[in-house]
Amino acid sequence: MDSVLILDFGSQTTQLIGRRIRERGVYTEILPGDIDFEEADLKTTRGIIFSGSPESVYDNNSPKPDKRFFETGLPILGICYGLHLITEHFNGKVGAGESREYGRAKMVFTGTTELLHGIPDGFLSWMSHGDRVVHEPPGFTIRARSEHGIPALLEEPDKKIYGLQFHPEVTHCEHGSDLLENFAIRICGAAGTWNMETFLEQESKTIQERVGDRPVLLLISGGVDSSVTAAMLLTALKKDQVHLMYIDTGLMRKNETKEVRKALEDFGAKHLHVVNASNEFLGRLEGEEDPEIKRTIIGDSFITIQQREVERLGIPEAYLAQGTLYTDMIESGKGVGKKAHTIKSHHNVRSPLVEEKRKAGLIIEPLAFLYKDEVRKLGETLGLSKTLIGRHPFPGPGLAVRIPGAITREKCDILREADAIFTDELHKRKLYDRIWQAFCVLLPVRSVGVVGDARGYGRVVALRAIISHDGMTADVYPFEMSDLLEISSRITNEVSQVGRVVYDISSKPPATIEWE
Ligand code: XMP
Repeated sequence: MDSVLILDFGSQTTQLIGRRIRERGVYTEILPGDIDFEEADLKTTRGIIFSGSPESVYDNNSPKPDKRFFETGLPILGICYGLHLITEHFNGKVGAGESREYGRAKMVFTGTTELLHGIPDGFLSWMSHGDRVVHEPPGFTIRARSEHGIPALLEEPDKKIYGLQFHPEVTHCEHGSDLLENFAIRICGAAGTWNMETFLEQESKTIQERVGDRPVLLLISGGVDSSVTAAMLLTALKKDQVHLMYIDTGLMRKNETKEVRKALEDFGAKHLHVVNASNEFLGRLEGEEDPEIKRTIIGDSFITIQQREVERLGIPEAYLAQGTLYTDMIESGKGVGKKAHTIKSHHNVRSPLVEEKRKAGLIIEPLAFLYKDEVRKLGETLGLSKTLIGRHPFPGPGLAVRIPGAITREKCDILREADAIFTDELHKRKLYDRIWQAFCVLLPVRSVGVVGDARGYGRVVALRAIISHDGMTADVYPFEMSDLLEISSRITNEVSQVGRVVYDISSKPPATIEWE
């Protein structure tokens, strides 16, 4: 499988470079910019991209690639800081501009190049760095400048080395994806045939070769990533080899355990271990009001229960599969070269099981090269139901973060009912897929109400619905008032303990998505 290697020097948009090229059918891999040449496997690499960076190449501690990457004979594309690295390496000069050029900038072509094939003169690019090329290196030619005269595209046609002052990967850059495709397919000659079917085929083969006849254990949460990982293992391996474990904490959504069980059984799961640990979790949480302590109790309980139940299975030689994603693997924007191996969810945090398996080389992470939406596509390719794949994210500590104050089974039941009605209404109104995350929160106050002729103190439920790309920032979903009124009245009619429903209209920031 042809691929393009991206060396990451710490730009916020490095991952986007990978995405844009994958969208055009070429597999990409991202490695830390200062990785040793020997550590990079270039067997399938057809070209190399140097990413941008917030640093300046002339600063002493700025990250630099191993010089041998320049000598592979493979085409190279430098983006912004990447261009500056190329300029410096080939004896040109980089300096800070007198006036900084940020944001949109019109391109003026000063020559032709394969990189600009099919792209019209005058397109709007996106600039985001104060440094620029002051003298191009010998052998390089400027093929485009910004409307203010700054060198924007340099080329060394014989060595096939290119550099851009702007960022083709950001959506504000017109023809950015075309330009990246020109590099990957036209210039590097990579076959544009990468898609989910080929990924599935290759990854299945890799898993089979790695695992052989050993058993594989996967802890599933009911979320998209672990469900897709489960489906992938059940497709790639003998069904008998795959052991799935699901811990019901008592803090799950309504019918969640039943639905997870059904989805996995429909997929042919033979060893599905559902652990009902709700008494343990709720018992340990009893009376605790402090949100941080609640989280710690849940995290610790997971670890103890997980350890105990895995031992009970009696498969110490098993591989451990994890639904870790690309975004979990790569530390973007922070210290280059620190290969952060961020652990997925709190199921695994500080988990001795994961540490032990990692030490023994018994971890497999089949989704580690995919982005979230690619995982959803893979789920579809595998034949998982749209409902499961399209589910809103659900936090590891479950309903616990949606019940401020002490948690009781009764409160969990009330919240589950209200939440199920909210979700059902969103599906019926065809709003569910437009919203990134929607849920109910059970507030720790009671409020006066009138039921029949009597006064009562009912519970208060807050509805939360937000739109977001990644959960880092969020906007409130702008419901039609009629939707809110009807949803509210269904909740108060059907969940007798709830006397009042409110809508949370705070964005993130300043609020967070969850209440705790
Ligand atoms: P906040 O509340 O921080 O949430 O704005 C951002 C996103 O993260 C989810 N979330 C969690 N997920 N364990 C998780 O696995 C947690 O402890 C946790 N806390 C918040 C939240 O649902 C939202 O999608």
